[in-house]
Amino acid sequence: TDWTRTVVAVDGPAGSGKSSVSRAAARELGFAFLDTGAAYRALAWLALERAVDLDDADAVFGLLADWDYRISTDPDDVRVWVAGTEVTQAIRETRVSSVVSSVARVPAVREALGRHFRLTLDEPGAPGVIAEGRDITTVVAPDASVRVLLTASESVRLARRAGELGSVTREELARQVTERDRRDSQVVDFMTAADGVTTLDSSELDFDQTVRALVTIVKAPRN
Ligand code: DC
Repeated sequence: TDWTRTVVAVDGPAGSGKSSVSRAAARELGFAFLDTGAAYRALAWLALERAVDLDDADAVFGLLADWDYRISTDPDDVRVWVAGTEVTQAIRETRVSSVVSSVARVPAVREALGRHFRLTLDEPGAPGVIAEGRDITTVVAPDASVRVLLTASESVRLARRAGELGSVTREELARQVTERDRRDSQVVDFMTAADGVTTLDSSELDFDQTVRALVTIVKAPRN
């Protein structure tokens, strides 16, 4: 694709901070921000809402026909709608997180969402866009101007998640995050940097330092 604006692709595992870091970097750069995981989550939410069997790939794919998905790409106001309902908060709930891998592993779903993401990345508007997910550097936008794999050690990722969700025990959280990474990594490899992808390891960096490091990578001269 010959993008009409600067496209920054960021991938990484759960708890790497890629979503909040990418959003803050987009804000700082005056770029748009695209959370691609939100689309998988919204589809999972709709499947639960309509009581669709999550193991029925055709039925899950069929939901896309009239799902009317919308996401704002303003880093200061990220909101998500599906089928006429705002689901910004609902898609973050555990009941969605625990089933989202089932919709993300359907190849036809990945193809359809990938096409949708590429259209969004190419929309006119902000001079650039940061898109974050699992397969942005490799499948959705392998030709992005900047490609970054944001990583952190497993213990750091678990500690960050523990800070986010108050209610579950540490053990339960570790089990959930590890299990989701295991399921997700069967679909796309987001743990190893593909050729030409810059690894940004945030294990020893705080939030602001990680944002600054990402902004520096984006601003670095390229050819
Ligand atoms: O980043 P997240 O936790 O919001 O992602 C939600 C789910 O969607 C997660 O299980 C992985 C999947 N996903 C994906 O397969 N490809 C993407 N580009 C983004 C997310």
